[in-house]
Amino acid sequence: MKDKNIKKLVRESYGRIAKQYSNCCDNKTSCSCSENNNFDEISKSIEYTEKDIKEVPVGSNLGLGCGNPIAYTSLKEGETVLDLGSGAGFDCFLAANKVGVKGKVIGVDMTPEMLEKARENALKGNYENIEFRLGEIENLPVGDNSVDVVISNCVINLSADKQRVFREVYRVLKPGGRIAISDIALLKSLPKRIQESIEAYVGCVGGAVIIDKYKRIVEASGLKDVRITVKGSSECIDPDTKDPLGRAILDGLGEDEFLEGYVVSVYVDGHK
Ligand SMILES: C[S@@+](CC[C@H](N)C(=O)[O-])C[C@H]1O[C@@H](n2cnc3c(N)ncnc32)[C@H](O)[C@@H]1O
Repeated sequence: MKDKNIKKLVRESYGRIAKQYSNCCDNKTSCSCSENNNFDEISKSIEYTEKDIKEVPVGSNLGLGCGNPIAYTSLKEGETVLDLGSGAGFDCFLAANKVGVKGKVIGVDMTPEMLEKARENALKGNYENIEFRLGEIENLPVGDNSVDVVISNCVINLSADKQRVFREVYRVLKPGGRIAISDIALLKSLPKRIQESIEAYVGCVGGAVIIDKYKRIVEASGLKDVRITVKGSSECIDPDTKDPLGRAILDGLGEDEFLEGYVVSVYVDGHK
């Protein structure tokens, strides 16, 4: 698949999710999709607390993350934070509460429907220290040396040009600025059928890369002291699932193979 086609499919899929977010997730082909649509429970299983969930505007948590990048770094008052692929704004609101009115949070997302949702949520919560910008993480609409912390949650695996994403991250970070990224990575190459599945790509599995390669990509951008920590195995998929992502992934596995042996959630940190 060409990069442009991948982007179009990803944008269309997350556009649909943004529109349908309050409906049952029967047709939701996405990261961390759950058939019972219980986003809060999904979030608690990936290190968000009850307090985190309660302190953000209702509708900002769509259960799309694969970790909690904010839990692993300490954001300070007054800092400028950039969220790559901010979705409906969940992590941006948590970050904004931490950096306070003297700080600033910028969320970038390429899906207009997500951006609209995030902006509505910011209005609902009276947030004045957040700005949501339409843009691609491979071409960040953000100035050079202007950001203290880049966060991201389950997004970079969706980019067909991860090297370019990290070059952009390096460009926008201030000297000494840091990254705190939750993402999906692989322990070994996926079976071909999964590699070729559009559902698996959009669902944050097909575009993931092996951990060592991920580390090389981040280091090639110039970032220092890069660490990739495995946080958990992929969520279990019910063998009888009707979710298209779950089905595509299970159908792509051979007998006696389990997704857990391939896919893990990771936390990536490092600094400029
Ligand atoms: C799995 S969701 C995660 C959303 C959010 N980070 C969260 O945890 O709720 C992926 C998001 O990344 C956005 N996205 C994917 N690829 C992107 C790209 N290349 N540039 C900008 N946004 C992108 C999608 O539009 C979607 O909102």
